[in-house]
Amino acid sequence: MASTFGAAQVLVASNRGPVSYEVREDGSLHAKRGGGGLVSGLSAIGPDADALWVCSALSDGDREAVRRGVGEDGVRMLDVPADVHADAYNGIANSVLWFVHHMLYQTPLEPVFDAEFRRQWASYEAFNRAFAEALAEEAAEGAVAIVQDYHLTLVPGMLRELRPDLRIGHFSHTPWAPVEYFRMLPDDIAEQVLRGMLGADRLGFLTRRWADAFTGCCKALVGGLGDTRIGVHGLGADADFLRRRSHEADVDERMAALREQIGSGPDGNLRRTVVRVDRTELSKNIVRGLLAYRQLLADRPEWHEKVVHVAFAYPSRQDLAVYRDYTAEVQRVADEINTEYGTDGWTPVVLHVQDDFARSLAAYRLADVALVNPIRDGMNLVAKEVPVVSDAGCALVLSREAGAFEELGEDAIVVNPYDVTRTAEALHEALVMPAGERVERAKRLAAAATALPPARWFLEQLEALRG
Ligand code: G6P
Repeated sequence: MASTFGAAQVLVASNRGPVSYEVREDGSLHAKRGGGGLVSGLSAIGPDADALWVCSALSDGDREAVRRGVGEDGVRMLDVPADVHADAYNGIANSVLWFVHHMLYQTPLEPVFDAEFRRQWASYEAFNRAFAEALAEEAAEGAVAIVQDYHLTLVPGMLRELRPDLRIGHFSHTPWAPVEYFRMLPDDIAEQVLRGMLGADRLGFLTRRWADAFTGCCKALVGGLGDTRIGVHGLGADADFLRRRSHEADVDERMAALREQIGSGPDGNLRRTVVRVDRTELSKNIVRGLLAYRQLLADRPEWHEKVVHVAFAYPSRQDLAVYRDYTAEVQRVADEINTEYGTDGWTPVVLHVQDDFARSLAAYRLADVALVNPIRDGMNLVAKEVPVVSDAGCALVLSREAGAFEELGEDAIVVNPYDVTRTAEALHEALVMPAGERVERAKRLAAAATALPPARWFLEQLEALRG
């Protein structure tokens, strides 16, 4: 029996992996770092001889890498058939489970759980099974496997059946929906998701609020948690990495370019900046952020020519029409503000939509104010990264619905993300905050934001599973 076991002592499973490939014109493969909070957190663990990261092949380049047997040590990409992946990822994970946990549905049209949903659900099951089987094959006897996120909720239960010897964890990087919203899912599906998760020995969440919501769902819908334990691990920013990376030459170059775009105000100094960096994601609430900035300019003309909103909205989930529409809406509102208020020498909104990590860090360094106003967010690492990186200590306008609020709420200016008027006032308060207070608050924000660096966040979970 032992001979059928694999070699990995520690396994991580997630849809998006640490690396993604592109086929270049000459046919060569070019490797790029994966994006999003999950990958930022897990990448800091670093390569470990006995660890294996199982992830999906997501792009044509990834599939080509699998075919050619190209890959990185410690990473196994699963090439599930493209149509099964599309149903599982776009159909179920991102259009249903993401919408449920972020409470994004808009009545009267959504959601509709019909025959098409059932068909896609079968793909979600097949996708989860592919992960469970790969983990079962690769894991050494008694190994620890930590499964990540809403794409893979059925894996713990499936893996438990295949390999009862393993210690299985699951970590959610998203919020968890309260039971009143979660039970919008068809009863059998809601139960399957909860029972799938409860196949784990231990479930991790980013905040107590999401952990409690999960427990509430289990109590109401499947009679409780059974033997599964729950833990809260508030993933923090990686201070060492960020401080080093944000002082490299490419970031300096991007800062120079951004300074040009921001320009100087009437006093000859660089204009004040309100910075946001997000995936173009419905839950990030980018449009209401722009509307709040517009209201600031409408209510307080004293800011004209003196402030610039630097907004980076990077492409995300563009296979989904609702995301493409949202991207267009962000662009439209930004253009409107520039047409309405812009002058020859002043562009009130500098919007960039092409992903560029060095430019994000450059914007963090220049930020006077960071705007983080999601409708709902598991944590939001941007809120934790900006105070660490900003050169002059930035003020943080933060939604109370972001997981980061639990740790940063005291030193941030807190807003209800739907309240555009209040958000506009908060931006003003942040902009006029005396420099001394801003620096002090930013120091405390940075300390809270880096309290649990990614490597420790992961170790805590490993130890809890082994203990
Ligand atoms: C969130 C999710 C991650 C996901 C990331 C990027 O952070 O929790 O699982 O990887 O968004 O989204 P994407 O669909 O591009 O992987």
